[in-house]
Amino acid sequence: MQAIVLVGGEGTRLRPLTDTIPKPALTLVDRPFLAYMVEWLAEHGVSEVVFACGFLPDVLRAALGEGEHAGVRLTYVIEPDRRGTAGAIRFAADSLGDRLDERFLALNGDVLTNFDLDALLRAHEERRARATLALFAVEDAAAYGLVRSDGDGAVLQFLEKTGEAAPGEVNAGAYVLERSVLDLIPPEREVSIERDVFPRLVGDGLHGLLLDGYWMDIGTPARYLQATWDILEGRVQTRVRPTAPGLLVGAGAEIAEGAAVGPRAVLGPGCTVAAGAEVRDSVLLGGCDVGAGARITGSVLAPGVKVGAGACLSGAVVGRDEIVPARR
Ligand code: GTP
Repeated sequence: MQAIVLVGGEGTRLRPLTDTIPKPALTLVDRPFLAYMVEWLAEHGVSEVVFACGFLPDVLRAALGEGEHAGVRLTYVIEPDRRGTAGAIRFAADSLGDRLDERFLALNGDVLTNFDLDALLRAHEERRARATLALFAVEDAAAYGLVRSDGDGAVLQFLEKTGEAAPGEVNAGAYVLERSVLDLIPPEREVSIERDVFPRLVGDGLHGLLLDGYWMDIGTPARYLQATWDILEGRVQTRVRPTAPGLLVGAGAEIAEGAAVGPRAVLGPGCTVAAGAEVRDSVLLGGCDVGAGARITGSVLAPGVKVGAGACLSGAVVGRDEIVPARR
């Protein structure tokens, strides 16, 4: 089975973290986010992942490198211009040509999940669908694509980001597609699968399957942090080995005596926390320094940030190599 993974977006909601690193290449706990995706796909028999790249493709490519990861072959295609979620699938498919299977998976590259993809594939096959969407039940569907289906899973309505706060089954960003769906995507243009393709497939082979398990899209700072704690506290099974529940201290990180780190925190490799400083509910990517008496809560710091003595950060997202001035 092949999977096309969309990793070309600009990740605007995670700026400034995504100014220099595409969202799917950001470190989540101790590895690039994409590593979780590929490790999950490997468990469901995916043999090749095709990364559909757009924004900062070289940084993305460097995250997992060439060759393979977790036994899965890695292929990269790079869009020459902005294609949108469907245009990107079409471009990747055209790049693969005859090498693309008749049936394949397509996935958003920013979702941490342990969904049973075998069940999704089985449902797709049994119903002879053209496209089958993984659905996830949420309390507030406002930020997602809301999907209504009949008792047999045929999709009756597909409403992209309604903005209405109501519980519902939403598009989880994981699809089984037949090649024939590609005919609905005009080439060399920006086309959205959510807005332009799925609504046209309603009543014509579009199905959904409600899955349970863990599902989190890491596209905002709050959800990026929540995914971090879910990994470190074992609510989703991954290959990460926490230092303690809720805590990861990377190689060479140093915590001075009298500093308080955690119970929830990630200190990336080479970070230092000086005496009297406090780091709680926060992620510090590699090489950050926290000065004496500084206080960091609910924040995400890109690599190389220096926080001056006595400074306070709460709910902050700080870009690479920035300097937060000391405060007396
Ligand atoms: P925001 O700007 O914060 O909305 O993030 P985003 O750019 O990642 O957009 P969104 O979360 O809606 O995208 C869902 C998935 O599709 C992500 O994995 C994106 O990387 C990917 N994606 C969005 N647009 C494109 C595109 O034009 N090309 C490719 N290859 N992937 C895309």
